[in-house]
Amino acid sequence: MDKLKIAIQKSGRLYDDSIKLLKDCSIEVNIGIDKLKTTALNFPLEILFLRDDDIPQYLEDGVADIGIVGKNVLLEKRKKIKIKETLGFGKCRLAIAIPKSLVYKEINDLNGKRIATSYPFLVREFFEKKYIKAEIHEISGAVEIAPGIGLADCICDLVSSGSTLFMNGLKEVETILQSEAVLASNLHLREEQNIIMKKLLFRIRSVKKAKN
Ligand code: PRP
Ligand code: ZN
Ligand code: MG
Repeated sequence: MDKLKIAIQKSGRLYDDSIKLLKDCSIEVNIGIDKLKTTALNFPLEILFLRDDDIPQYLEDGVADIGIVGKNVLLEKRKKIKIKETLGFGKCRLAIAIPKSLVYKEINDLNGKRIATSYPFLVREFFEKKYIKAEIHEISGAVEIAPGIGLADCICDLVSSGSTLFMNGLKEVETILQSEAVLASNLHLREEQNIIMKKLLFRIRSVKKAKN
């Protein structure tokens, strides 16, 4: 029997809720430590644990068939993949933050600043819309420490509880995007894979309904 390969974040904000969603869908998964891949016990699903930022590319290439990833990552990466369902968890926003001690009145205060982010495309788009000229420095992680070590004046990163910003002495000044987890899919699923995906979607929608 054919199996569907689902990519989920291997660690981070979406991991627990992604595993819980499968569980709520009555899909049993054995998770060992440090495993990159596992097979569901009672559903034709193979689970791949990957870095969330890599999931859109893997979906486009067909390395994974479907995946759970933040809308923020999908919009940044602009791959040829399809959103099948919003999942209602992993709610957060992509926001610009500056050191707490700085005075901020309006968006023009960002002119001429150096901004560190893992979302260069979305930040550039936002600044162009607002006629802000800033220097974008792309870094792939630990963006919040950039101002503290003199690498940038401000940052743009995901904020959910706000505790990462708080711990790094930063405050939010602009929101670029609201985000949550979505189920996305490769564009060219085979017929049998489509059937499995529809079964999974049916369960996910039932779980969502039961929660409302
Ligand atoms: C995001 C973001 C912050 C953190 C913010 O990371 O990069 O580090 O979450 O959350 P908080 O406001 O609740 O403190 P993500 O889970 O996307 O992991 P990654 O940056 O390693 O991909
Ligand atoms: Zn990430
Ligand atoms: Mg992070």
